Amino acid sequence: MAINTVNIIDEYIKTHPGSKKLHERALKIFSANGATHTARVLDPFRPYVVRAQGTRKWDIDGNEYLDYVMGHGALILGHAHPAVVQAVQEQVAKGTHYGENHPFEVEWAELIQRNMPAMKRIEFFPCGQEANMMAIRLSRLFTGRKKILRFAENFHGWGDELVVTHTPGVSNDYVTMIPGHDLKLVEKELATKEYALVMAEGGGAHMAGQVPWDPDFIRGIPPLAKKYGTIFLIDEVVTGFRDAPGGWQSTIGVTPDLTSLGKIIGGGVGVGALGGRADVMDMLTPKAPPQPFARHSGTWNANPLTAAAGVAACKLYLDGEPQRLANELGAYLREKGNQALKEKGYSCRLYGRTIVHLYLGSLDYEPTEGSLPPTSDAAKLMSKVDEKMRLCVHLLQRGIATMGARFFVLSAYHTKEELDRTVDALISSLDAMAQEGSLGK
Ligand SMILES: Cc1ncc(COP(=O)(O)O)c(C=O)c1O
Repeated sequence: MAINTVNIIDEYIKTHPGSKKLHERALKIFSANGATHTARVLDPFRPYVVRAQGTRKWDIDGNEYLDYVMGHGALILGHAHPAVVQAVQEQVAKGTHYGENHPFEVEWAELIQRNMPAMKRIEFFPCGQEANMMAIRLSRLFTGRKKILRFAENFHGWGDELVVTHTPGVSNDYVTMIPGHDLKLVEKELATKEYALVMAEGGGAHMAGQVPWDPDFIRGIPPLAKKYGTIFLIDEVVTGFRDAPGGWQSTIGVTPDLTSLGKIIGGGVGVGALGGRADVMDMLTPKAPPQPFARHSGTWNANPLTAAAGVAACKLYLDGEPQRLANELGAYLREKGNQALKEKGYSCRLYGRTIVHLYLGSLDYEPTEGSLPPTSDAAKLMSKVDEKMRLCVHLLQRGIATMGARFFVLSAYHTKEELDRTVDALISSLDAMAQEGSLGK
Protein backbone atom coordinates (compact mmCIF):
# COMPACT_ATOMS: atom_id res chain seq x y z
CA MET A 1 0.00 0.00 0.00
CA ALA A 2 1.23 3.50 -0.79
CA ILE A 3 2.33 5.59 2.19
CA ASN A 4 2.21 9.34 2.33
CA THR A 5 3.42 10.41 5.74
CA VAL A 6 2.01 13.91 5.38
CA ASN A 7 -1.58 12.84 5.18
CA ILE A 8 -1.97 9.25 6.21
CA ILE A 9 -5.77 9.47 6.49
CA ASP A 10 -6.13 10.61 2.85
CA GLU A 11 -3.80 7.85 1.70
CA TYR A 12 -5.71 5.29 3.72
CA ILE A 13 -9.05 6.37 2.28
CA LYS A 14 -7.61 6.34 -1.24
CA THR A 15 -6.36 2.75 -0.91
CA HIS A 16 -9.58 1.48 0.72
CA PRO A 17 -12.39 2.51 -1.68
CA GLY A 18 -14.48 -0.62 -1.12
CA SER A 19 -14.21 -0.30 2.66
CA LYS A 20 -15.12 3.37 2.41
CA LYS A 21 -18.33 2.56 0.52
CA LEU A 22 -19.32 -0.05 3.09
CA HIS A 23 -18.48 2.33 5.92
CA GLU A 24 -20.78 4.96 4.40
CA ARG A 25 -23.62 2.38 4.36
CA ALA A 26 -22.74 1.23 7.89
CA LEU A 27 -22.85 4.80 9.22
CA LYS A 28 -26.57 4.86 8.37
CA ILE A 29 -27.24 1.69 10.37
CA PHE A 30 -24.71 1.23 13.19
CA SER A 31 -24.73 4.04 15.73
CA ALA A 32 -21.16 3.55 16.99
CA ASN A 33 -19.55 5.41 14.08
CA GLY A 34 -20.61 2.59 11.79
CA ALA A 35 -18.88 -0.09 13.87
CA THR A 36 -20.31 -3.14 15.64
CA HIS A 37 -17.76 -3.22 18.49
CA THR A 38 -16.10 -0.37 20.40
CA ALA A 39 -12.68 -1.70 19.45
CA ARG A 40 -13.60 -1.50 15.75
CA VAL A 41 -14.24 2.25 15.83
CA LEU A 42 -11.45 4.09 14.02
CA ASP A 43 -10.96 7.40 12.25
CA PRO A 44 -11.56 7.10 9.31
CA PHE A 45 -12.76 3.44 9.51
CA ARG A 46 -11.33 -0.05 9.89
CA PRO A 47 -10.99 -2.22 6.78
CA TYR A 48 -13.89 -4.46 5.76
CA VAL A 49 -12.38 -7.93 5.78
CA VAL A 50 -13.58 -10.67 3.46
CA ARG A 51 -11.17 -13.54 4.18
CA ALA A 52 -8.62 -14.72 6.72
CA GLN A 53 -6.15 -17.59 6.75
CA GLY A 54 -3.37 -18.38 9.21
CA THR A 55 -1.74 -15.10 10.28
CA ARG A 56 -3.15 -13.05 7.36
CA LYS A 57 -6.42 -11.40 6.43
CA TRP A 58 -7.59 -9.57 3.30
CA ASP A 59 -10.01 -6.70 2.89
CA ILE A 60 -12.58 -6.05 0.19
CA ASP A 61 -10.04 -3.94 -1.75
CA GLY A 62 -7.51 -6.77 -1.83
CA ASN A 63 -5.23 -5.24 0.81
CA GLU A 64 -3.42 -7.88 2.85
CA TYR A 65 -2.84 -7.56 6.61
CA LEU A 66 -0.60 -9.40 8.97
CA ASP A 67 -3.10 -9.94 11.75
CA TYR A 68 -2.45 -9.13 15.40
CA VAL A 69 -6.11 -8.79 16.35
CA MET A 70 -6.47 -12.58 16.19
CA GLY A 71 -10.21 -12.50 16.76
CA HIS A 72 -9.90 -10.11 19.74
CA GLY A 73 -7.63 -12.70 21.31
CA ALA A 74 -9.91 -15.67 20.50
CA LEU A 75 -7.39 -17.29 18.15
CA ILE A 76 -4.07 -18.87 19.01
CA LEU A 77 -4.11 -21.38 16.12
CA GLY A 78 -4.43 -18.60 13.54
CA HIS A 79 -7.40 -18.13 11.23
CA ALA A 80 -9.23 -21.11 9.73
CA HIS A 81 -7.03 -23.81 11.27
CA PRO A 82 -7.66 -27.02 9.22
CA ALA A 83 -8.69 -29.11 12.25
CA VAL A 84 -11.27 -26.51 13.34
CA VAL A 85 -12.55 -25.97 9.78
CA GLN A 86 -13.06 -29.70 9.31
CA ALA A 87 -14.84 -30.09 12.65
CA VAL A 88 -17.20 -27.17 11.92
CA GLN A 89 -17.89 -28.31 8.34
CA GLU A 90 -18.75 -31.81 9.52
CA GLN A 91 -20.97 -30.53 12.32
CA VAL A 92 -22.84 -27.92 10.27
CA ALA A 93 -24.02 -30.68 7.94
CA LYS A 94 -25.28 -32.68 10.91
CA GLY A 95 -27.22 -29.79 12.46
CA THR A 96 -26.29 -26.67 14.39
CA HIS A 97 -28.74 -26.86 17.28
CA TYR A 98 -30.36 -30.02 18.60
CA GLY A 99 -32.00 -28.38 21.58
CA GLU A 100 -30.75 -31.51 23.37
CA ASN A 101 -27.72 -32.86 25.17
CA HIS A 102 -24.99 -34.05 22.82
CA PRO A 103 -21.67 -35.95 23.05
CA PHE A 104 -19.41 -33.00 22.13
CA GLU A 105 -20.40 -30.97 25.20
CA VAL A 106 -19.23 -33.77 27.50
CA GLU A 107 -15.98 -34.34 25.58
CA TRP A 108 -15.30 -30.58 25.53
CA ALA A 109 -15.81 -30.16 29.28
CA GLU A 110 -13.59 -33.18 29.97
CA LEU A 111 -10.83 -31.70 27.80
CA ILE A 112 -11.04 -28.42 29.73
CA GLN A 113 -10.97 -30.30 33.01
CA ARG A 114 -7.80 -32.15 31.95
CA ASN A 115 -6.10 -28.76 31.55
CA MET A 116 -7.55 -27.33 34.77
CA PRO A 117 -8.26 -30.15 37.24
CA ALA A 118 -9.54 -27.62 39.82
CA MET A 119 -12.59 -27.21 37.56
CA LYS A 120 -14.61 -29.87 39.35
CA ARG A 121 -17.74 -28.66 37.55
CA ILE A 122 -18.08 -26.70 34.30
CA GLU A 123 -20.91 -24.70 32.71
CA PHE A 124 -20.91 -23.35 29.13
CA PHE A 125 -22.15 -19.95 27.91
CA PRO A 126 -22.27 -18.14 24.55
CA CYS A 127 -19.59 -15.63 25.65
CA GLY A 128 -17.11 -14.82 28.41
CA GLN A 129 -19.10 -12.10 30.13
CA GLU A 130 -22.02 -14.46 30.70
CA ALA A 131 -19.65 -16.79 32.54
CA ASN A 132 -18.69 -13.86 34.79
CA MET A 133 -22.36 -12.95 35.29
CA MET A 134 -23.01 -16.50 36.45
CA ALA A 135 -19.99 -16.37 38.78
CA ILE A 136 -21.58 -13.36 40.48
CA ARG A 137 -24.97 -15.11 40.73
CA LEU A 138 -23.54 -18.34 42.15
CA SER A 139 -21.32 -16.52 44.65
CA ARG A 140 -24.27 -14.50 45.91
CA LEU A 141 -26.39 -17.61 46.32
CA PHE A 142 -23.56 -19.49 47.99
CA THR A 143 -22.55 -16.77 50.45
CA GLY A 144 -25.88 -15.00 50.96
CA ARG A 145 -24.02 -11.70 50.35
CA LYS A 146 -24.36 -9.14 47.55
CA LYS A 147 -21.12 -7.15 47.18
CA ILE A 148 -18.41 -7.69 44.57
CA LEU A 149 -14.78 -6.57 45.00
CA ARG A 150 -12.97 -5.60 41.80
CA PHE A 151 -9.68 -3.97 40.76
CA ALA A 152 -8.98 -0.80 38.79
CA GLU A 153 -9.04 -1.06 34.99
CA ASN A 154 -9.97 -4.76 35.11
CA PHE A 155 -12.45 -5.63 32.37
CA HIS A 156 -14.80 -8.59 32.64
CA GLY A 157 -17.38 -7.71 29.94
CA TRP A 158 -19.66 -4.76 29.18
CA GLY A 159 -22.40 -5.64 31.71
CA ASP A 160 -23.06 -3.29 34.62
CA GLU A 161 -21.02 -5.20 37.18
CA LEU A 162 -18.26 -6.17 34.76
CA VAL A 163 -17.28 -3.06 32.85
CA VAL A 164 -14.26 -0.84 33.62
CA THR A 165 -14.45 1.96 36.19
CA HIS A 166 -16.39 5.19 35.63
CA THR A 167 -18.40 3.99 32.64
CA PRO A 168 -21.39 6.31 32.11
CA GLY A 169 -24.84 4.76 32.19
CA VAL A 170 -23.74 1.96 34.49
CA SER A 171 -25.53 1.07 37.69
CA ASN A 172 -23.40 -1.15 39.91
CA ASP A 173 -24.21 -0.22 43.49
CA TYR A 174 -22.83 -3.45 44.88
CA VAL A 175 -19.44 -3.22 43.18
CA THR A 176 -16.43 -1.81 45.02
CA MET A 177 -13.48 -0.93 42.81
CA ILE A 178 -10.06 -0.62 44.46
CA PRO A 179 -6.53 -0.22 43.08
CA GLY A 180 -4.59 -3.44 42.50
CA HIS A 181 -1.47 -4.48 44.41
CA ASP A 182 -2.69 -3.43 47.87
CA LEU A 183 -3.39 -6.53 49.94
CA LYS A 184 -4.06 -4.44 53.05
CA LEU A 185 -6.90 -2.70 51.23
CA VAL A 186 -8.22 -6.07 50.02
CA GLU A 187 -8.23 -7.35 53.60
CA LYS A 188 -9.90 -4.19 54.89
CA GLU A 189 -12.77 -4.68 52.43
CA LEU A 190 -13.11 -8.45 52.82
CA ALA A 191 -13.02 -8.18 56.62
CA THR A 192 -16.44 -6.50 56.45
CA LYS A 193 -17.75 -9.96 55.46
CA GLU A 194 -20.10 -8.29 52.99
CA TYR A 195 -18.44 -9.58 49.83
CA ALA A 196 -19.74 -12.54 47.83
CA LEU A 197 -16.97 -12.43 45.22
CA VAL A 198 -13.55 -10.93 44.57
CA MET A 199 -12.53 -11.06 40.91
CA ALA A 200 -9.25 -10.41 39.06
CA GLU A 201 -8.26 -10.64 35.41
CA GLY A 202 -5.66 -13.27 34.49
CA GLY A 203 -2.30 -11.65 33.74
CA GLY A 204 -3.44 -8.19 34.78
CA ALA A 205 -5.85 -5.51 33.69
CA HIS A 206 -6.91 -5.71 30.09
CA MET A 207 -5.97 -8.34 27.53
CA ALA A 208 -3.58 -10.40 29.64
CA GLY A 209 -1.86 -7.55 31.41
CA GLN A 210 -1.72 -4.11 29.89
CA VAL A 211 -1.43 -3.32 33.60
CA PRO A 212 0.38 -6.46 34.77
CA TRP A 213 -0.10 -8.04 38.19
CA ASP A 214 2.64 -8.62 40.66
CA PRO A 215 1.93 -12.39 41.04
CA ASP A 216 2.53 -12.14 44.79
CA PHE A 217 -0.48 -9.86 45.05
CA ILE A 218 -2.69 -12.50 43.43
CA ARG A 219 -1.09 -15.23 45.57
CA GLY A 220 -2.08 -13.23 48.64
CA ILE A 221 -5.80 -13.15 47.77
CA PRO A 222 -6.91 -16.82 48.28
CA PRO A 223 -5.99 -16.97 52.00
CA LEU A 224 -7.84 -13.69 52.62
CA ALA A 225 -10.87 -14.82 50.60
CA LYS A 226 -10.96 -18.06 52.59
CA LYS A 227 -10.57 -16.28 55.92
CA TYR A 228 -13.51 -13.96 55.29
CA GLY A 229 -15.77 -16.37 53.39
CA THR A 230 -15.56 -14.68 49.96
CA ILE A 231 -15.34 -16.58 46.65
CA PHE A 232 -12.26 -15.77 44.53
CA LEU A 233 -12.49 -15.81 40.73
CA ILE A 234 -9.71 -15.44 38.18
CA ASP A 235 -11.11 -14.28 34.85
CA GLU A 236 -9.09 -16.25 32.31
CA VAL A 237 -11.31 -15.38 29.34
CA VAL A 238 -8.19 -14.05 27.59
CA THR A 239 -5.40 -16.01 29.28
CA GLY A 240 -7.20 -19.36 29.68
CA PHE A 241 -5.16 -21.93 27.75
CA ARG A 242 -3.40 -19.05 25.94
CA ASP A 243 -0.74 -18.53 28.59
CA ALA A 244 -0.28 -22.25 29.30
CA PRO A 245 -2.47 -25.39 29.15
CA GLY A 246 -3.40 -24.73 32.80
CA GLY A 247 -3.97 -21.02 32.18
CA TRP A 248 -2.25 -18.04 33.81
CA GLN A 249 -3.13 -19.43 37.23
CA SER A 250 -0.86 -22.43 36.59
CA THR A 251 1.96 -20.06 35.55
CA ILE A 252 1.85 -18.31 38.94
CA GLY A 253 0.74 -21.33 40.99
CA VAL A 254 -2.64 -20.13 42.29
CA THR A 255 -5.91 -22.07 42.39
CA PRO A 256 -8.98 -19.82 42.56
CA ASP A 257 -12.41 -21.01 43.69
CA LEU A 258 -13.83 -20.20 40.24
CA THR A 259 -12.35 -19.59 36.79
CA SER A 260 -14.07 -18.02 33.81
CA LEU A 261 -12.95 -18.93 30.31
CA GLY A 262 -13.91 -17.89 26.77
CA LYS A 263 -12.18 -16.88 23.55
CA ILE A 264 -9.68 -19.61 22.52
CA ILE A 265 -11.51 -22.51 24.17
CA GLY A 266 -14.08 -22.16 21.36
CA GLY A 267 -11.46 -22.47 18.61
CA GLY A 268 -12.67 -19.16 17.15
CA VAL A 269 -16.41 -19.61 17.65
CA GLY A 270 -18.23 -17.60 20.37
CA VAL A 271 -18.07 -19.19 23.81
CA GLY A 272 -17.74 -18.78 27.56
CA ALA A 273 -17.28 -21.26 30.40
CA LEU A 274 -17.27 -21.11 34.16
CA GLY A 275 -15.83 -23.79 36.39
CA GLY A 276 -14.38 -24.51 39.78
CA ARG A 277 -15.35 -25.70 43.25
CA ALA A 278 -18.15 -28.26 43.16
CA ASP A 279 -19.97 -26.84 46.18
CA VAL A 280 -20.20 -23.38 44.57
CA MET A 281 -21.01 -24.64 41.05
CA ASP A 282 -23.65 -26.95 42.54
CA MET A 283 -25.75 -23.86 43.24
CA LEU A 284 -26.88 -24.68 39.67
CA THR A 285 -28.39 -27.98 40.80
CA PRO A 286 -32.19 -27.77 40.75
CA LYS A 287 -33.64 -28.04 44.26
CA ALA A 288 -37.11 -28.16 45.72
CA PRO A 289 -38.45 -24.77 46.92
CA PRO A 290 -37.69 -22.89 49.09
CA GLN A 291 -34.05 -23.94 48.66
CA PRO A 292 -32.22 -21.50 46.38
CA PHE A 293 -30.54 -22.45 43.12
CA ALA A 294 -29.53 -20.64 39.93
CA ARG A 295 -31.51 -21.28 36.78
CA HIS A 296 -29.44 -21.24 33.64
CA SER A 297 -31.29 -20.89 30.35
CA GLY A 298 -29.59 -19.64 27.18
CA THR A 299 -30.40 -20.66 23.62
CA TRP A 300 -26.76 -20.99 22.61
CA ASN A 301 -25.30 -22.76 25.66
CA ALA A 302 -22.88 -25.47 24.45
CA ASN A 303 -24.43 -25.52 20.99
CA PRO A 304 -23.03 -28.36 18.85
CA LEU A 305 -21.29 -26.09 16.33
CA THR A 306 -19.25 -24.26 18.97
CA ALA A 307 -18.64 -27.48 20.86
CA ALA A 308 -17.30 -29.19 17.71
CA ALA A 309 -14.89 -26.29 17.13
CA GLY A 310 -14.00 -26.21 20.83
CA VAL A 311 -13.21 -29.92 21.00
CA ALA A 312 -11.02 -29.75 17.87
CA ALA A 313 -9.11 -26.74 19.24
CA CYS A 314 -8.81 -27.89 22.87
CA LYS A 315 -7.28 -31.20 21.72
CA LEU A 316 -4.49 -29.15 20.13
CA TYR A 317 -3.90 -27.11 23.32
CA LEU A 318 -3.40 -30.13 25.60
CA ASP A 319 0.33 -30.67 25.03
CA GLY A 320 1.12 -26.96 25.43
CA GLU A 321 2.90 -26.70 22.08
CA PRO A 322 0.82 -23.80 20.63
CA GLN A 323 1.23 -21.92 23.91
CA ARG A 324 4.99 -22.59 23.98
CA LEU A 325 5.34 -21.31 20.41
CA ALA A 326 3.21 -18.20 21.06
CA ASN A 327 5.21 -17.41 24.21
CA GLU A 328 8.48 -17.84 22.28
CA LEU A 329 7.24 -15.52 19.53
CA GLY A 330 6.11 -12.99 22.12
CA ALA A 331 9.62 -12.96 23.60
CA TYR A 332 11.09 -12.49 20.12
CA LEU A 333 8.79 -9.57 19.29
CA ARG A 334 9.52 -7.92 22.63
CA GLU A 335 13.26 -8.34 22.29
CA LYS A 336 13.55 -7.23 18.66
CA GLY A 337 11.03 -4.45 19.08
CA ASN A 338 12.61 -3.00 22.21
CA GLN A 339 16.06 -3.20 20.66
CA ALA A 340 14.87 -1.25 17.59
CA LEU A 341 12.95 1.28 19.70
CA LYS A 342 16.00 1.87 21.86
CA GLU A 343 18.33 2.23 18.88
CA LYS A 344 16.00 4.83 17.37
CA GLY A 345 15.77 6.68 20.67
CA TYR A 346 12.05 6.02 21.23
CA SER A 347 11.27 5.68 24.92
CA CYS A 348 8.14 3.56 24.34
CA ARG A 349 8.37 -0.14 25.11
CA LEU A 350 6.84 -3.55 24.34
CA TYR A 351 6.02 -5.94 27.19
CA GLY A 352 3.79 -8.93 27.93
CA ARG A 353 3.71 -12.59 26.94
CA THR A 354 1.60 -14.02 24.10
CA ILE A 355 -0.15 -10.67 23.89
CA VAL A 356 2.56 -8.04 23.54
CA HIS A 357 1.50 -4.63 24.86
CA LEU A 358 2.79 -1.29 23.68
CA TYR A 359 3.57 1.46 26.14
CA LEU A 360 3.70 4.72 24.19
CA GLY A 361 5.54 7.12 26.45
CA SER A 362 8.58 7.56 28.66
CA LEU A 363 9.73 4.76 30.90
CA ASP A 364 12.65 4.82 33.30
CA TYR A 365 13.61 1.19 33.05
CA GLU A 366 15.41 -1.10 30.65
CA PRO A 367 13.17 -3.92 29.49
CA THR A 368 14.73 -7.37 29.44
CA GLU A 369 13.30 -10.78 28.64
CA GLY A 370 10.10 -11.24 30.63
CA SER A 371 10.42 -7.99 32.56
CA LEU A 372 7.42 -5.79 33.16
CA PRO A 373 7.16 -2.04 33.72
CA PRO A 374 7.91 -1.42 37.38
CA THR A 375 4.81 0.63 37.90
CA SER A 376 1.33 -0.41 38.88
CA ASP A 377 0.06 3.00 37.81
CA ALA A 378 -2.90 1.67 35.86
CA ALA A 379 -3.91 4.97 34.29
CA LYS A 380 -0.39 5.59 32.96
CA LEU A 381 -0.14 2.21 31.30
CA MET A 382 -3.63 2.54 29.76
CA SER A 383 -3.02 6.07 28.44
CA LYS A 384 -2.31 7.67 25.03
CA VAL A 385 -5.37 6.12 23.38
CA ASP A 386 -5.72 8.82 20.69
CA GLU A 387 -2.08 8.62 19.69
CA LYS A 388 -2.37 4.85 19.48
CA MET A 389 -5.43 5.20 17.23
CA ARG A 390 -3.35 7.30 14.84
CA LEU A 391 -0.57 4.73 15.06
CA CYS A 392 -3.15 2.05 14.27
CA VAL A 393 -3.93 3.75 10.92
CA HIS A 394 -0.22 4.04 10.12
CA LEU A 395 0.22 0.35 10.88
CA LEU A 396 -2.82 -0.65 8.82
CA GLN A 397 -1.43 1.28 5.88
CA ARG A 398 1.76 -0.75 6.30
CA GLY A 399 -0.24 -4.00 6.30
CA ILE A 400 -0.31 -4.59 10.06
CA ALA A 401 -3.72 -5.00 11.79
CA THR A 402 -3.91 -4.29 15.54
CA MET A 403 -6.67 -3.38 18.01
CA GLY A 404 -5.98 0.34 18.26
CA ALA A 405 -2.21 -0.31 18.34
CA ARG A 406 -2.57 -1.13 22.03
CA PHE A 407 -1.24 -4.66 21.71
CA PHE A 408 -0.14 -7.40 19.33
CA VAL A 409 -2.03 -10.67 19.84
CA LEU A 410 0.16 -13.56 18.73
CA SER A 411 -0.79 -16.93 17.35
CA ALA A 412 1.44 -20.00 17.48
CA TYR A 413 2.06 -19.58 13.76
CA HIS A 414 3.36 -16.05 13.28
CA THR A 415 6.84 -16.36 11.79
CA LYS A 416 9.98 -14.54 12.88
CA GLU A 417 10.12 -12.96 9.41
CA GLU A 418 6.62 -11.57 10.02
CA LEU A 419 7.65 -10.27 13.43
CA ASP A 420 10.74 -8.58 11.93
CA ARG A 421 8.46 -6.95 9.37
CA THR A 422 6.18 -5.81 12.18
CA VAL A 423 9.04 -4.16 14.06
CA ASP A 424 10.07 -2.34 10.86
CA ALA A 425 6.48 -1.17 10.35
CA LEU A 426 6.25 0.01 13.97
CA ILE A 427 9.46 2.03 13.70
CA SER A 428 8.52 3.49 10.33
CA SER A 429 5.04 4.42 11.68
CA LEU A 430 6.56 6.16 14.71
CA ASP A 431 9.02 7.98 12.42
CA ALA A 432 6.09 9.14 10.27
CA MET A 433 4.15 10.29 13.32
CA ALA A 434 7.17 12.18 14.64
CA GLN A 435 7.45 13.84 11.21
CA GLU A 436 3.76 14.78 11.05
CA GLY A 437 3.87 16.01 14.67
CA SER A 438 1.30 13.55 16.02
CA LEU A 439 3.67 11.72 18.41
CA GLY A 440 3.71 13.09 21.96
CA LYS A 441 6.46 12.75 24.52
C1 LIG B 1 -10.80 -10.53 30.64
C2 LIG B 1 -12.10 -10.56 29.90
N1 LIG B 1 -13.17 -11.08 30.52
C3 LIG B 1 -14.36 -11.15 29.92
C4 LIG B 1 -14.53 -10.70 28.64
C5 LIG B 1 -15.87 -10.79 27.99
O1 LIG B 1 -15.86 -11.84 27.09
P1 LIG B 1 -16.92 -11.85 25.88
O2 LIG B 1 -16.56 -10.70 25.01
O3 LIG B 1 -16.72 -13.18 25.23
O4 LIG B 1 -18.25 -11.71 26.52
C6 LIG B 1 -13.44 -10.18 27.94
C7 LIG B 1 -13.58 -9.71 26.55
O5 LIG B 1 -12.67 -9.25 25.91
C8 LIG B 1 -12.20 -10.09 28.59
O6 LIG B 1 -11.13 -9.55 27.98
